[in-house]
Amino acid sequence: MRGGAFSRPLSVPPGMRLHRALSLKNVAYRDFLFAFLPFSVYTCPYMEQIVQNENETKDLGQTISTSLQDGDILCLYGDLGAGKTTFVKGLAKSLGITEEILSPTFTLMNIYNIKTSKPELRTLVHIDTYRLKTENDLKEIGAEDYLGQPGVVTIIEWPEKIMGLIENKKVIKIYFEHLSNHERKITIER
Ligand SMILES: Nc1ncnc2c1ncn2[C@@H]1O[C@H](COP(=O)(O)OP(=O)(O)O)[C@@H](O)[C@H]1O
Ligand SMILES: [Mg+2]
Repeated sequence: MRGGAFSRPLSVPPGMRLHRALSLKNVAYRDFLFAFLPFSVYTCPYMEQIVQNENETKDLGQTISTSLQDGDILCLYGDLGAGKTTFVKGLAKSLGITEEILSPTFTLMNIYNIKTSKPELRTLVHIDTYRLKTENDLKEIGAEDYLGQPGVVTIIEWPEKIMGLIENKKVIKIYFEHLSNHERKITIER
């Protein structure tokens, strides 16, 4: 389990401070820096990236997957078509999941076996509450057995609808903003 290390306030690494200072003025420099900064949701409490296409969103999912820990819950915020499921596809592929990732809009929850070399990560749970009527519907299909549990990584699209289920749990928040046709701003906070 993550224990005290996770709750300890973390300072922004020097590389990220430099990045912030430069990012508003020099987009090319920002992109260069991101390509070479090892990103971890555990070392950076805040991170923002502009992606230009679907593949870059998948790549970010893949990057995040490398620093996931046992019991993590990722909450994905953003409008329809913002890229949440696309992000999950990249993340899942990187976890060795070969099944096609389909949005659980109707099933509410899809479950996959993780096949990476990290033995502590066993199950990926993908929840989409877009069509959910009440939290109880999700409880009835056993979501509470997975949320934050050992061996499980849970990703929730539209977490706003199930705040009661996650209010006492530590979550990583990821915001997707639609900037233009293919451009998205993705912000990660923990
Ligand atoms: N940069 C981008 N990132 C993610 N998806 C993009 C991007 N540019 C265009 N798209 C398109 O937008 C749609 C995103 O769909 P999806 O990931 O299902 O969104 P959501 O799950 O947020 O509703 C897809 O059709 C995808 O091809
Ligand atoms: Mg979706």
